[in-house]
Amino acid sequence: MTTTTPLTSDLDLFSDEALTDPYPHYKALRDLGPAVHLTRHGLWFISRYEQVRSALGDWETFSSGRGIGLNDGFNDAWGSALINMDPPAQTEQRKLFTDRLSPRALRPVAADIDRRADQLAADLVTRGSFDAVTDLAQDLPVHVIMDLIGWPTEGRDQLLDMAAGWFDSAGPACPRTAASVPKVEALMGYLAEVVAKENLVPGGFGWTLLEAHKAGQIPVEGAIGLLAGYVVAAFDTTISTISSSMWLFARHPEQWDLLRSEPSLVPAAFNEIVRIESPIQVFSRTTTREVDLGEGAVIPAGARVLHSYGAANRDERHFPDPDRFDIRRNPVDHLGFGYGNHACAGQGLARLETHAVLKALAARVQRIELTGEPVRALNNITRGFQSLPVRIH
Ligand code: HEM
Repeated sequence: MTTTTPLTSDLDLFSDEALTDPYPHYKALRDLGPAVHLTRHGLWFISRYEQVRSALGDWETFSSGRGIGLNDGFNDAWGSALINMDPPAQTEQRKLFTDRLSPRALRPVAADIDRRADQLAADLVTRGSFDAVTDLAQDLPVHVIMDLIGWPTEGRDQLLDMAAGWFDSAGPACPRTAASVPKVEALMGYLAEVVAKENLVPGGFGWTLLEAHKAGQIPVEGAIGLLAGYVVAAFDTTISTISSSMWLFARHPEQWDLLRSEPSLVPAAFNEIVRIESPIQVFSRTTTREVDLGEGAVIPAGARVLHSYGAANRDERHFPDPDRFDIRRNPVDHLGFGYGNHACAGQGLARLETHAVLKALAARVQRIELTGEPVRALNNITRGFQSLPVRIH
């Protein structure tokens, strides 16, 4: 990285190299100042824990209303998605999600999730070697979450690629963003068709959105945007968490031994995984006024600000020895699910699924071994794997 003035950098955080291993860059940018102007893409970057948390808690200054993507095409197309709104409209629409995803509402499905995870773990133990992304991590999101949404069985596999395209399409002007456009157009068309044909199982989460639309509570674009909130947000994020857990435990067998000897550490392990390998690395906001963050970092009004959950979760100012994977750390205040009015609406479900997988594997598996080179899924927003060959003993 070369810097020109103290709070300016020409680093390209969206290059293959930076996406493969962003952490040294995050550290350099955190050390540079509380906000750094990234000249390559005309963005301000906030990466320290304290400033990221404050920005997420202050929607009146750091607004989502002009979109959380880094290009106008994305922000215009998905203006009706919950994530791209400010209160009061966002508060109202968010209720449609939180009612169905609260811990109480999810209690009846917990047993099903545990059963499916148990069966999956038993099958994988019999197989021994498999791909932890396609054979393990994708299973619960594709089957359990899609069942809860009430998504038609056919077409679920296509959604995986389209959802990854959605995240990429939120990136800055660059070839990766451009390449995602056809996938996103296909996703938009697919969601519109499902809404128009009312092709959702009555009683599922998606059906609630359809009913709200039919009752005149939300326009058709609103129903499509909200439905995207389920199918997009629920896939890559949870798949990434489960894949990263396998990668981390394979590289830290002592932490796996600890989890096996104390299964009550599963919730703490989940928090540590989302902290250290945050599935969503960055999103953005727009400033509604000039903001002085100290140390000479003055962000003008109307600026596009990239905030990094991934960088904040590795900030040594907040988490001692942040690059160390330690399931006893239990970082309950990590920012991997965001913070404030947009904090993840589906985290209860992500928790249920990942807990179930970790519990089922810890009860059966002594050791997780990588059997080939992991392949990263490079994405403008998310961090995960395309393939992760493993053997379990
Ligand atoms: C480990 C898995 C997950 C992670 C790490 C994650 C992360 C996040 C983050 C960081 C945000 C905040 C965005 C912002 O600040 O603008 C968010 C929002 C959201 N997430 Fe998740 N998510 C996960 C799973 C899920 C699941 C399973 C669902 C749905 C069933 C979901 C639905 C949503 C929705 C609807 C929002 C937007 C909330 C709003 O704008 O008010 N997420 N998520």
